[in-house]
Amino acid sequence: MTDLRSDTVTRPSKEMRRFMAEAEVGDDVFKEDPTVERLEREVAELLGKEAALYAPSGCMANQLALKVHTREGDEVMLEADSHIFNYETTAASFLSRVQLYPIIAKDKGRLTVDEVDAGIRDKAYYMPVSRLLALENTHNRAGGTVYPVARVKELSAFAHSKGVKMHLDGARLWNACAQAGVEPIEYAKHFDTVSVCFSKGLGAPVGSVVAGPADMITEARRMRKIWGGGMRQAGIIAAGALYALHNNRARIGEDHVKARAFAERVANGTKNVTIDLDAVQTNIVLIVPTKIKDLPKAIGQLKEQGVLLSMGKRDSLRAITHLDVSMDDCVNAANIVVNVFNA
Ligand SMILES: Cc1ncc(COP(=O)(O)O)c(C=O)c1O
Repeated sequence: MTDLRSDTVTRPSKEMRRFMAEAEVGDDVFKEDPTVERLEREVAELLGKEAALYAPSGCMANQLALKVHTREGDEVMLEADSHIFNYETTAASFLSRVQLYPIIAKDKGRLTVDEVDAGIRDKAYYMPVSRLLALENTHNRAGGTVYPVARVKELSAFAHSKGVKMHLDGARLWNACAQAGVEPIEYAKHFDTVSVCFSKGLGAPVGSVVAGPADMITEARRMRKIWGGGMRQAGIIAAGALYALHNNRARIGEDHVKARAFAERVANGTKNVTIDLDAVQTNIVLIVPTKIKDLPKAIGQLKEQGVLLSMGKRDSLRAITHLDVSMDDCVNAANIVVNVFNA
C-alpha cells in the first residue's frame, strides 16, 4: 500500500525509536525534563525567538498562540482556506472567544497587503478589534504553496503599522524553507509567534512547538496546563522531535521532487483530471477530477489497487509525499491514478 493521504502517516524509524528510548526524562510539568527543555531551546534559537513551548499537537500550538495574543471578543484575520479556520473545529471561538475573519486569497492561498487591508476594521467602539493576522506557510489546502519571504515581510510591516500582531502556522515551515532556500529564521523574524510541527514532513510521532516572546510563552505554558496539555516525562516523545529536527530536515526537499514527479505523471497521463502544476511547490498535490464526480468511490477504487489518497479541498483529491514513500512508490501510484481515471 502506498499511503499518500498525509505526511502525518510516517512511522518512527529504528534509529529514531532508539534515540527516544534512551532520552533523558523528568517531570516536564515541574520543568524538569531535560529533553523537552533542549527541544524548546533549540527551536527558539532556530526561529530567533526568546522562548518556546512543546505542545502535543499543531492545533494546540496554534490555539495557544491565538489565546495569548487576544482578548475575548477580538478578531483574528486569516486566509479562508487556512487550517485554523477549517480544521481546528471551532477551537478559536470555543477556547479564546474570538471571531475569525476569513479572507479569500486570490494567489493560491497567499494573502496580499491589499487583501489584508480590506479586512482590517475601522477603530470604532461598535466594531471588532483586528488583533492578529495568522498566515499559513506552506498552505495546506492551497496545495502546499509557499509564501515568498518578501511578501511576508510586506504583510508584517503593514499589519504591525496597524497595531495587528502576526502569527505563523508553520506546521510545514520546513517545506517552505526548503523550497524558498532560506533558514526558518528568515520567515520567523516577521512574526510575533510561530508554531511548527515535527509530526508532518519531519517524521516524528508527536508534537509541535509554539515560539515567541518570553512573557507570551510563560502565559502559553499556563494555558497549556489549563487545557490539559501539561505532560510529565514528555522527553520520550520530544526526543523523536529532536531526532527529526537533526536528521530529517535536510532531506525534506526530496519529498518535493517526488510530489512533482507524481503530479506530472498524473497530469500527462490522463485528461480526466486537472492539476495546477504551478501550485505543486512542495510535497502536496491536489487532483481535481473532471469526469468522475463521486470522489469517495474513486478513493475506494484507488485503495483496492494499493494507493491511499485523501479528500482535498472541495472537489479535489489530495496526495502528500513523505519520507516513508520512495520515488518508485510515487511513480507506481501515479500510474495507478492514471489507470483509474482513464477507465
Ligand atoms: C497547516 C496545518 N496546521 C496545523 C495542523 C495541525 O496539526 P495537528 O494535526 O498536529 O494538530 C495541520 C495538520 O495537518 C496543518 O496541516
